[in-house]
Amino acid sequence: MKVLELDKVSFAYEGEEELIKEISFSLDKNEFLSIVGSSGCGKSTIIKIIGGIEKQKSGKIKSLKTAYMPQKDLLLPWRTVIGNILLPIELNKKSIKEGRKKGKFYLKKLHLDEYADKLPQDLSGGMRQRVSFIRTLLTEADILLLDEPFSALDAITKGKLQKWLLETLEEFNKSVIFITHDINEALYLSDRILVCQNRPLDSFVEYKLPKEKDEKFIIETKKKILLNIGGEEE
Ligand SMILES: Nc1ncnc2c1ncn2[C@@H]1O[C@H](COP(=O)(O)OP(=O)(O)OP(=O)(O)O)[C@@H](O)[C@H]1O
Ligand SMILES: [Mg+2]
Repeated sequence: MKVLELDKVSFAYEGEEELIKEISFSLDKNEFLSIVGSSGCGKSTIIKIIGGIEKQKSGKIKSLKTAYMPQKDLLLPWRTVIGNILLPIELNKKSIKEGRKKGKFYLKKLHLDEYADKLPQDLSGGMRQRVSFIRTLLTEADILLLDEPFSALDAITKGKLQKWLLETLEEFNKSVIFITHDINEALYLSDRILVCQNRPLDSFVEYKLPKEKDEKFIIETKKKILLNIGGEEE
């Protein structure tokens, strides 16, 4: 079953040249899809369009409900950590009591339970990213749109979170679009990777990945992807 379909979507920022030109792709239920590509190619813009933050100039989008985690964390500075996590639950008029319980549970899982009543300014960048991630996860949505969610984390924390993310997704029954600059991360997490091509962005090179990936496969595929990106990264 498809949870998202883009059909010939084009986009330009006000007064700018065309950035995205007639791109089409879809997302299956429970699929983990990563998008990689050189800086400025339009990755964040794609998920902003899907999340309804920007509107396409032409083309069609069919989508189930999405939850968007921006590239820069947008925690409200005057709200506590738990207050930020509860924001979408309040906006959707869902049970605060239940939300608080779930929020506390995930804060504990991500080793942030002592910070529930602190303000974002008291947290490191990586901690804020994790809070923003919990908020996205607890938003009632079928599709998570994650824009470089682990980029501010150290390698060890990142590794733990990646493993935890895969386990959690199964439990939550979500589909994911994941943006990253880290090809290894994309290879580890994804069922499929789209590599952005050309300016304006008009197509992708697609890699379908098996669940079990051995080292040889990872190295070979990484080489190919880096060539597709154009050797600008890493
Ligand atoms: N609000 C905006 N108004 C005008 N131009 C914008 C706006 N937001 C982004 N752009 C431009 O659109 C292009 C694509 O931006 P986008 O943020 O989608 O790239 P990206 O692939 O996510 O890059 P990165 O990997 O650096 O995050 C860039 O040239 C950027 O400067
Ligand atoms: Mg971006």
